[in-house]
Amino acid sequence: MIPQKTVTEILETAKIEEVVQDFVNLKRRGVNMIGLCPFHHEKTPSFTVSPTKNLFKCFGCGKGGDPARFIMEHENLAFPEALKYLARKYRIEIKEIELTPEAVAQQQAEESLYIVNEFARQFYQDQLFTTDVGRSVGLNYFKERGFREETIKKFGLGFAPKDGAVFTEKATKTGYKLDYLKKLGLTSRYDKDFFRNRVMFTIHNLSGKPIAFAGRIMEKDVKAPKYINSPETEIYTKSKILYGTYLAKKAIRQLDECILVEGYTDVISLHQAGIENVVASSGTSLTEGQISLIKRFTPNIKILYDGDPAGVKAALRGLDMVLEKDMNVKVVLIPDKEDPDSYLQKVGATAFQEFIDQKAQDFILFKTNLLLSEVKGDPVKKAGLVRDIVDSIARVPDPFKRSFYVKECARVMELEEEVLVTETNKAVKQILQKRQFDRQKQEGTQINIVPEDGEGSATPDVEVLPPQPGRQRTTGHEFQERDIARILVAAGGEMYDEKEGISVAEYILSNIEEVLEDFDNAMYQRIARECLQLLTNNEKISPQYFISHKEQEISSLAVDLLYSPYEYSPGWEERDLYLSSQKMPDENFTKDSVSSLMNFKLRKIIRLCEKNQQRLKEVQATDDGTQLMRLLKVQARLNEIRNDLAKQLGTVVLK
Ligand code: GTP
Ligand code: MN
Repeated sequence: MIPQKTVTEILETAKIEEVVQDFVNLKRRGVNMIGLCPFHHEKTPSFTVSPTKNLFKCFGCGKGGDPARFIMEHENLAFPEALKYLARKYRIEIKEIELTPEAVAQQQAEESLYIVNEFARQFYQDQLFTTDVGRSVGLNYFKERGFREETIKKFGLGFAPKDGAVFTEKATKTGYKLDYLKKLGLTSRYDKDFFRNRVMFTIHNLSGKPIAFAGRIMEKDVKAPKYINSPETEIYTKSKILYGTYLAKKAIRQLDECILVEGYTDVISLHQAGIENVVASSGTSLTEGQISLIKRFTPNIKILYDGDPAGVKAALRGLDMVLEKDMNVKVVLIPDKEDPDSYLQKVGATAFQEFIDQKAQDFILFKTNLLLSEVKGDPVKKAGLVRDIVDSIARVPDPFKRSFYVKECARVMELEEEVLVTETNKAVKQILQKRQFDRQKQEGTQINIVPEDGEGSATPDVEVLPPQPGRQRTTGHEFQERDIARILVAAGGEMYDEKEGISVAEYILSNIEEVLEDFDNAMYQRIARECLQLLTNNEKISPQYFISHKEQEISSLAVDLLYSPYEYSPGWEERDLYLSSQKMPDENFTKDSVSSLMNFKLRKIIRLCEKNQQRLKEVQATDDGTQLMRLLKVQARLNEIRNDLAKQLGTVVLK
């Protein structure tokens, strides 16, 4: 554990431009610096560094944050490791707080597992290159498959000899405990070698350490499985690993695309041919953990399927999950019962690359075409197909993408677009309801499925079709909520009234507490609530607090807010009379917060007025006298507040 004091020291010392410049060529542009984004492929620079804010932000791919965040993203490190990196760079000494004995033991045990695996990797490699059998059986095999020596070394390929316990004996003689060998699955229960007469593939974690092995059989015509693998351990969780990620991650980032294949040999062949953004699922269907892993590097995934239609159909089922994660999925079918490796060897690298570029099809359209070819005019089957496709489309979180799919699929299936729109909306609602139901179960609370005023929905990431073209999803309310959130993040800790000792956050929050429940945007609401919490606990509110927030969503929102003080939703200027002329919060946050606050409140009050009037109408129809009186009183009070606010705004903002 790094002591908090040191964490603060590191974060205060690290300069964003110095940290970034170790990796990216930056040029001055006014107060900022710009360069080519290291996180996605681009030809014109949209990667900005602000020395004054000590932040980076890419307007192309959206990544942004402080120096620690940059190192975490760029070097694929966890927060503590990124801090250690920065500490080394700035020669700050870290005196780690002592870990508990259990934690020390755990760390040492994990470390030992890596060390033993590294020993095994070296052993298998030596066998491959320096023993007669290794060379004649293993090395020959790899060479026949077209793998060059540098590739063999790069991927940590090796050979496990046939005789009973050559590895186990050597390892124990060198001093490695039998317990560890067994735990890692290198030695069997009967103290024999687990991998025998197999060529070996090392499986690495993201930082390149060996965490497991796979061994491919050499004998032909035997019943044993073609591949055998190490068991799961503390350092190897199958569902979270994709073979080849360590060697592919740089290319995946640069090309902003990840190619997914099935086999170890596919990864190696493609990589050797210069297609380096490849990883393998190792023959199993994709897990959520694996998708999250890919998503850390890119939202674009291209799946290469071996040419076997039955297998492909089975695989399609697992893919709806990828859609839900808002990834763009393309698929390519490798022809003629080949796999990517064999097809590449057959046609050569250039033709192969051309083939996958040309044949890549969007997943939903691919699925539609594939299933449609089986229906062949059978109306019952076609109805089933519609349901299947609609279910996939409904999982896509982005409403614009959904409407694109609806159009395309309607065309392909020769259906009225209306039909598909209606069905998709139904499915979206079902998914929403299910999510809410799950959440309620988790939280044990009641949430309305559709808010009273019918505006927006309780789950901001899913919106029902059809989308309005050319308009952003931010509602007028959200726009002003964003303003409030921005001021809280940027200047919440500053003094609003020096004499009275009231901070900007205190001032804002005391004024909006009664409408805090009425936010349309859940994220802005979270920022406001979190500020309230900090105030209650008497803790400091600072931009840094939000930038290095442990929840990535909050920290990137904070960066966004700090970077974009002048933002208007399209059409906003014409529609809203009360738009204030925004100042940078750090220039004039007092005035800024007053006007933003009033705009915010005014909007909420106007909405309450409208709601109340609606209710008045309803009650008038029922002639419930007491209720009517009550509502009229509320209306009078609301009008009063509204007029008050409008008047103040008139003097403060409207000139
Ligand atoms: P080669 O036959 O050497 O070209 O390998 P391949 O990768 O083309 O094999 P295949 O297409 O048969 O299988 C694809 C992937 O599925 C392999 O790379 C393995 O990860 C996995 N796999 C195949 N067979 C087995 C098996 O018997 N056991 C296990 N655990 N995995 C297997
Ligand atoms: Mn193969």
